Amino acid sequence: MRIGVLTSGGDAPGMNAAVHSIVRASYGRGHDIWGIRRGYAGLLEEDAKLLTLQDVDGISRHGGTMLGSARSPVFPTEQGLRQGAEQLRRMKLDGLIVIGGNGSLTGAHALTRHTDCRIIGLPASIDNDVGHSGLAIGVDTAVNTIVEACDRISDTARAHHRAFIVEVMGRNCGYLAMRAGIASEADAILFAERARSEDEIVEELRAILCRSFSRARNKKRVLILKAEGVKISTGRLRERLQLHLDDDVPGVDVRETILGHVVRGGNPSATDRVIAQRLGLSAVMALEQGGHDVMMGWDTPSHVGAATPDPNIRQVPLVEMIAETARLLDGSSDVTMARLKLLESAETLLSL
Ligand code: F6P
Repeated sequence: MRIGVLTSGGDAPGMNAAVHSIVRASYGRGHDIWGIRRGYAGLLEEDAKLLTLQDVDGISRHGGTMLGSARSPVFPTEQGLRQGAEQLRRMKLDGLIVIGGNGSLTGAHALTRHTDCRIIGLPASIDNDVGHSGLAIGVDTAVNTIVEACDRISDTARAHHRAFIVEVMGRNCGYLAMRAGIASEADAILFAERARSEDEIVEELRAILCRSFSRARNKKRVLILKAEGVKISTGRLRERLQLHLDDDVPGVDVRETILGHVVRGGNPSATDRVIAQRLGLSAVMALEQGGHDVMMGWDTPSHVGAATPDPNIRQVPLVEMIAETARLLDGSSDVTMARLKLLESAETLLSL
């Protein structure tokens, strides 16, 4: 077979490990593997190269993506999709592996309407908002990066008796804030899946701050993890809380840190490398067996999709992934509801 591979959308630590395993599996199993640079933008321009084993030696340990990535505004249009399909035909590809988040995999599904080239998606996004994949490539590293940053912030916060609001990426998904918040002993975690007004959020945090810094409790620091999807800006939230603190507990500062793209970079954790390597191999094997218009999901529920030789990986139709992603984000998915329930049961303990 002639197989193409591209990485698309926001890069995620572990994308290189996935490319590495796809190249190794392709060579080992007698296929040509073409690396397409800069995601769908590179596909439209036929910016591709036949990858060798030497090209991918040692790349698994590096963050970012050696193939480059992009968010192409042209590709998702009808004309862009037709042009993409034409490039696949010109490159004589039998299969294409798309490594990316839910937007990139939605694009992969749209492309299948225009081509006979078999298309397989691998979930890769720090946001963990890809439906029917328990984890996406990059999530574990991003959580570890946030926890390390929060530990550092907590050191300085304790020294100065301060409260910190730490904003983390995740687009409309609160998973990173939730998971890192628990690991960092946060006092409160804010995420968009629970719709609350600005005033409700401020009142809740005000109560937590007053209790924490009271003489009786005498906490040395308060840590508030905030997902970027929460509509109130971190600066505005800080200002409103500071006003209350000046009245309630004078002398205590509230500070803010927006971690931003720091969370997306860095060497992938061992867990991310292993997940990526196993997903990469499973994608090549799925192509050999005629897999098409599917995503290889990690820790997908057993009632979804089809089993693969890897016990942690299931083959899920992209259309089902897209539907579940919408439910994840609007809060109607069982997965989101279970996450919220778990957090609610821990929430009263967080601020003790
Ligand atoms: O999807 C990954 C992500 O890092 C989100 O968490 C964030 O909202 C977005 O990408 C940022 O994208 P960009 O780097 O294009 O600004």
